[in-house]
Formats: sequence, C-alpha cells, structure tokens
Amino acid sequence: MAEQTLVADRTGELRMDAAAKEERYREVARMIESALAGEPDLLAGMATIACLLHNAFPYFYWTGFYRRVGPTRLLVGPYQGTMGCLDIDFSRGVCGAAARERRTQLVTDVHAFPGHIGCDSASASEIVVPVLDAAGELVAVLDVDSTLPAAFDRTDQRWLERIVALLAEKEPLPVVSTQ
Ligand code: SME
Repeated sequence: MAEQTLVADRTGELRMDAAAKEERYREVARMIESALAGEPDLLAGMATIACLLHNAFPYFYWTGFYRRVGPTRLLVGPYQGTMGCLDIDFSRGVCGAAARERRTQLVTDVHAFPGHIGCDSASASEIVVPVLDAAGELVAVLDVDSTLPAAFDRTDQRWLERIVALLAEKEPLPVVSTQ
C-alpha cells in the first residue's frame, strides 16, 4: 500500500468546519477502502479503521470498537486513545443503546445521556455506530468520543456508517463469551 497517511494536527484547533470535515472523510474513507481490500480478517479491519480514523481527525479523542462476545456483552478493542472500560452490557451507556437498538447514537452532551458510562471524564460528546455482518447480526459497535461538546453531526454519522459497512463481509471473530 503506497498510500500517504493522514495525520491530524493535535496541537491546533480541534474543531473542523463542514467542508474540511467532508473532505477529510472522503480521503480517509478512500484510504480505509484500499487498505481493507482483499483482507478478510475482521480484527485487522477494525484495527486499521480505528487507527486511520483516530489519526485523521483532531477532535477524535477515543476511537475504537466494542466487540459482541455474548448475547448482551460487549468487550473492548481494538481502539486508540486513553484506556477504555473493558466490559459493557447492552443495558448500559451509549454503546449499549447502539447495540440494543442497532441504530447509531449521536450524543451531543454525554452528561445528559441517562446511563452514560464515564470511562474518561474528559469525554464530552460521542457517536456510536453499530457494526452488522452480512446477515444483519450485530458483531460490534464503533465508538468515537470527543472532548468537544457536540463534536459529531450527520456528516460523521453518514461517513462512519459507510466505513463500518466495509466490515460486513469480513470473516467473523470467534465468540469468547463467559456468560
Ligand atoms: N462512552 C461509552 C463508554 C465507552 S468509552 O467512553 C470508551 C458509553 O457510555 O457507552
């Protein structure tokens, strides 16, 4: 892969205007698509997506996946950022809601979300996107947190949903449930 890597400038302004955000998503989606092409491994796909997204956007503070490892259990990884909680039940938090409802959760203020799990008190807003396999079964959620309030909008939702759809045809992970 001879693609150039996008690296966000974390020392400057975190917020991006709509046009810059759209353009950055277009570039990073192209990179992700080319990196994942021909690689059937789901975990490699998730790790690559977490890395490329996290490094492309200055307002992404925690970027990664919670995999479904039991009927109602999510387990962390792969991810980039500060340490995340390991286990999340479907009944809890924004990730749980996305897993339960199989619908993207766009949360402008995490402190106003009932049952929000505060893994890192620096997080102010987040988006969680369900990852479904080809049969429509939930295999994971993609969670992105920001220290900025209301950092995510419909542009993030549209692109992140499109990006995780690239994982639908990958080989499933072994489920290691203890439940
Ligand atoms: N924000 C999530 C918890 C996971 S972390 O923040 C990494 C939630 O409430 O579902």
